[in-house]
Amino acid sequence: MSPEDIGIVQASFKRCSQHMEFIDNFYQRFMETSSDVTARFANVDMDHQVVMLRGSLELMLGCVHEQDPAQSLAALAELHSRRGVDIPPQLYDYWLSSLLSTVRAYDHECDAELLAAWERVLSPGIRCMKAGY
Ligand code: HEM
Repeated sequence: MSPEDIGIVQASFKRCSQHMEFIDNFYQRFMETSSDVTARFANVDMDHQVVMLRGSLELMLGCVHEQDPAQSLAALAELHSRRGVDIPPQLYDYWLSSLLSTVRAYDHECDAELLAAWERVLSPGIRCMKAGY
């Protein structure tokens, strides 16, 4: 992940965020990936989930500036671990693939290289969430 990647991804997130329904659409795609995902959100109200998804994205894009992503994500990783809301590692792959397909749908400048940059930027944080399980 390079400084160029971060700039490219933040610009893409800005273009996507101009569409009011971007986060809702991400949420819908994520829910459709697996009954495992749906089940984990069964008791969380939808408005809160949408706020959570936007927050999670802002955090993941912001934390790339931190020296040690493991430290800034530690509390969040603990919350998602088997000691908390119990999110097994493979659900992060659904999270990422739903996000990338939503970016493809909403960013008119999207191409394969842009999606690869998104993946490079988010991978360290995702690795850290999975490792905390
Ligand atoms: C890198 C990916 C993710 C990030 C950055 C992230 C971030 C967050 C944040 C910021 C919260 C709110 C914490 C709080 O209220 O203090 C949260 C809660 C939660 N997340 Fe994630 N999340 C991620 C992936 C996932 C995945 C894959 C699932 C699987 C279904 C999931 C399920 C949940 C649940 C169930 C809650 C608790 C909601 C509640 O009870 O209020 N998250 N997440």
